[in-house]
Amino acid sequence: MRQRIVAGNWKMNLTVKEGLKLAEDLQKLLSSNTIYYSDTTFILAPSFLHLLSLKEISDRSVFVLAAQNISDKEKGAFTGEVSAAMLASAEIKYAIIGHSERRLLFHESNEMLKSKINLAIANQISPIFCCGEPLDVRENNTEMDFVLRQLDESLFHLEEAQIKNVIIAYEPIWAIGTGQTATPEQAEEMHRFIRTKVEQKYSPETAEAISILYGGSVNPKTANSLFSQQNIDGALVGGASLVAEDFFKIMMDII
Ligand code: 13P
Repeated sequence: MRQRIVAGNWKMNLTVKEGLKLAEDLQKLLSSNTIYYSDTTFILAPSFLHLLSLKEISDRSVFVLAAQNISDKEKGAFTGEVSAAMLASAEIKYAIIGHSERRLLFHESNEMLKSKINLAIANQISPIFCCGEPLDVRENNTEMDFVLRQLDESLFHLEEAQIKNVIIAYEPIWAIGTGQTATPEQAEEMHRFIRTKVEQKYSPETAEAISILYGGSVNPKTANSLFSQQNIDGALVGGASLVAEDFFKIMMDII
């Protein structure tokens, strides 16, 4: 059975104190709820700095922590970088890899992301691999080719047993931070396409096991209709994950 996942990407927001408060507020909301969450995973992806300070709250709550990035290098003289092994040693089990902001602003190529994926897998960290097209690509109706190339060049070299540990997040760039959520039909079409490609490359069993999240202006109003689509297994949420009540509502919508 596919995991249903709601992940919050805090990006470069919140001081350590503000992060602790948000996590505590979420913990309170979650603990007031008695629903059983067996096939559901809640993830918070704060900055590297927050990860250790949130560990104690995460240990007594139902949410787990993810990094927003990892280095493409194993270790050494790479000032400012954080390695997959460092994260693993802090018991971090997930990492966002290939977010479009990193691709665009920090020039991360598909090849570099392949390295990051390999290092994450080697350190038992599940990548949340982001893919998605810019507006001009969608306007030219070539978004499927664009996304397939991202998958082919960074992900589809993995062995079948390895790719089962990957979560794919489809985040169309035109929908990120714009308030323009993809329609459930647009998102479902791409998610179905991605799942079909996983099936063709690996097997129906693996395609059925992989969670594919949607990201891009998900909010408490749009989450439910997205989650009702057959191939949408959850969301990677930016702005709305910074407001405890909004993120909690989205988490409850996935159950
Ligand atoms: P928004 O939800 O703010 O559009 O951000 C989406 C995103 O980039 C999550 O990784």
